[in-house]
Amino acid sequence: MLIVANWKAYVEDIKKAKKLLAVSKRLARTTDVAIVLAPPSPLLSALTIHNTSKVAFAAQDVSATTGGAKTGEVTAQAYAAVGALYAIIGHSERRALGDTEKMIAEKIAHALAHGLTPILCVGEHERDSEGHYLGLVREELTSAIGSLMPKERAKVIIAYEPLWAIGKTATEAIGSADLAEMVLYIRKVLAELLPGKSSRQSLILYGGSVEATNIRDLTVSSNIDGFLVGHASTDPMAFSLLVKQLA
Ligand code: PGA
Repeated sequence: MLIVANWKAYVEDIKKAKKLLAVSKRLARTTDVAIVLAPPSPLLSALTIHNTSKVAFAAQDVSATTGGAKTGEVTAQAYAAVGALYAIIGHSERRALGDTEKMIAEKIAHALAHGLTPILCVGEHERDSEGHYLGLVREELTSAIGSLMPKERAKVIIAYEPLWAIGKTATEAIGSADLAEMVLYIRKVLAELLPGKSSRQSLILYGGSVEATNIRDLTVSSNIDGFLVGHASTDPMAFSLLVKQLA
């Protein structure tokens, strides 16, 4: 199981960041859960410098451009240079700030070019009884990875994050039956996009109000490979409880 801790902008000081890393290191040592931390970028580079543990790091986003005269941009290459191994791309909070499907596809290509494993976020705003939300998820997947070489497509981790479930509480997250159905659907779309049987190896994560109280339920019978956790990953105690539930 893989847990990606998306700290968003919840963590803003080095003391808290170090505390969360210490907790994560202990969990990585004592459980079989793989932990990836996604801190804001200055904190990411401060933490990776001395990190020799199994805990890995992800950028919360990467620039859609390569380097040059682009003030404020942080490129995939710069993240790779400070030791990030993953990059969250296409998060709904970035899409809301203007990320287009084209930019997301570019970001994925840049991440892959510099050895970062993209974690592509997809998910509908709301559900409708006709199942249009399935078509939207298909479109997001296809436009993000469809133009990559088939071998590259297989490297992308998919995080299904329905917007209606983000930033709430466990009671408002998706139910395990609906999650199981979506995981199946994403695997079906991936099977169309990936060569041979390679789509079976793709990792699919769920994100949106995952907490210690619902993570077990979401795991049972959904065939999910892990979780992208926001608010519950930024409190050392809550995060520890959550990972132990999964272990
Ligand atoms: P949440 O965020 O766990 O706070 O709902 C998840 C995410 O947006 O990645």
